[in-house]
Formats: sequence, C-alpha cells, structure tokens
Amino acid sequence: MTAHVKTEEFALNLPEGVFAETVLSVTHYTDRLFRFTMTRPASFRFRSGEFAMIGLVVDGKPLYRAYSVASPSWAEELEFFSIKVQEGPLTQHLQAIKPGDKVLMRKKPTGTLVLDALTPGKRLYMFSTGTGIAPFASLIRDPETYEKFDEVILTHTCREVAELKYGFDLMDEIKADEMLSEIVGDKLKHYATVTREDFPFKGRITDLIENGKLFTDLGVPPLDPAVDRAMLCGSMAMIKDTAVLLEKAGLTEGANNKPAEFVIERAFVG
Ligand code: A2P
Repeated sequence: MTAHVKTEEFALNLPEGVFAETVLSVTHYTDRLFRFTMTRPASFRFRSGEFAMIGLVVDGKPLYRAYSVASPSWAEELEFFSIKVQEGPLTQHLQAIKPGDKVLMRKKPTGTLVLDALTPGKRLYMFSTGTGIAPFASLIRDPETYEKFDEVILTHTCREVAELKYGFDLMDEIKADEMLSEIVGDKLKHYATVTREDFPFKGRITDLIENGKLFTDLGVPPLDPAVDRAMLCGSMAMIKDTAVLLEKAGLTEGANNKPAEFVIERAFVG
C-alpha cells in the first residue's frame, strides 16, 4: 500500500500532538525540487521563519523530517519547499503527494530564524542556498519584517538556473499581491546566483561577499555590525563559511534567548 493510503488510515486515529492536514496544491520545479501547500489547523501558531516536523506513514510508522514553513505566519494555508531524493526515506514518498492526500505535522514549531533572535538593525540579509530559501519565503511575506528593517536582501544561490525559479515566483507573487506589495515597497531585493551554469549573476555567496561584488551589485556599503543583521539557511558548508565572514565583519551569532547580529539554521534534507 502506498504511503498516502497508510497515512490516511493513520489519520483516522491520530495520536496526541499530531495533525493530519490535506494537501491543496503541488508544484514541481525540477526533478529535485517541489513546493506544496496544505490546510492549516486553526490551532497551529508559528512565527515566520520557524520549522515544523512533517511526515507520512512509511513502513507502518510515521516518519517525520524538519521543514521550514515557507508561508508567512498570517497565511491561511501552510506552504513548504522540498527537495526530492530518489532514495530519501521521506521525500521519495512525499514527492508523490497529490491534492486531497493527507500529510502529518507535529504540533510544535520551533527554530532560530526568527526576527526576535536579532537585535534591532537597518538592513536584513537573508543568505540561502537551495531549499534554504524556505524560511525566508515566509519572512519576506511577513509585514513585521518591514516594520523592523528598512532594507531586506534575500540572496539565493543554487547550482543551476532552474533551481532559482521558486525564488523568482515568490517575487512575482509579492508584486501581484496588492496589500503585500504596498508594505514591501522597494525595501526587498532579491539577489540570485548560480555556480554551475551560465547566468548574469554567478558565484558562491561567500566569494561575492569577500570580493565585494554583492555590495557593488546591490549598491550598499560593506557589512557593518551597527546596522546590518543576517540570517543564514542552506548547506552546512555555506553556513559555516558565511558565518566566518560575518564574524570577521564584526557580527556575532545570536539565538532566541540571546538576540545578536546573525542567526543560522541548516536546510533540512529529506
Ligand atoms: P558549488 O556549486 O560551487 O558547490 P548544494 O547543492 O551542494 O547544497 O549547494 C548549493 C549551493 O551552495 C551551490 O551553488 C554550491 O556551490 C553552494 N555552496 C556549497 N558549498 C558552499 C560553501 N562552502 N560556501 C558557499 N557556497 C557553497
């Protein structure tokens, strides 16, 4: 029996602490990436940027993985941006979901990529690679981000151009949303680069910070701990190397209970 049928059976008798939600839409971007939305339980509260445990019943047991909620905290639906791994214990099944199927979600969200974990600043950088853009998809659609910062810079680096599509779709969706586009105004900048294909903007974000191209391209001054704040999400290697550069520029790492100038979270792989 397929994972979705098993999950439906499991949903009939849910244990404490677990929701079973209905898939509303699925968009496949590449053979490695897809986006899906599902219903949001009325009692599920989260802060934009947090992640939740998402799952399906696999081999008779619920199997969960951490997924950043990509929709903002005010949205009626929950959105997720996922990798597809052919042998991935969860994603080999999750990639086959269709509208109407059930997906499990543990009730408690958590995470460090939240506005409260940063001290006040003027410019917020969101550095992402691959599916690490997901928590920022949430934050760039949250009005609170623009109450707290004058300028928001979302960088997204992938190996190939096709992998950037979700980010461009997000920008189009924001522009098309009358209320949100008014709140966002010209505060949001999207800086997308690829590392293994031809594209006008090329290179690892670490190199672009180090050689200053990021700042010249955007027309902003170099990193300054007095005004700049940052959030990092993506591959472990990118996070580690970017954190070193931020520290070199004088920014310190914060957490929920100790706000500072930047926060990190690795992107989760299914
Ligand atoms: P590259 O193609 O040069 O390895 P992945 O698909 O491996 O998770 O990588 C996603 C993106 O992150 C790729 O564009 C990759 O560049 C980039 N990347 C990988 N490692 C680092 C690193 N240490 N610093 C900055 N960017 C990195």
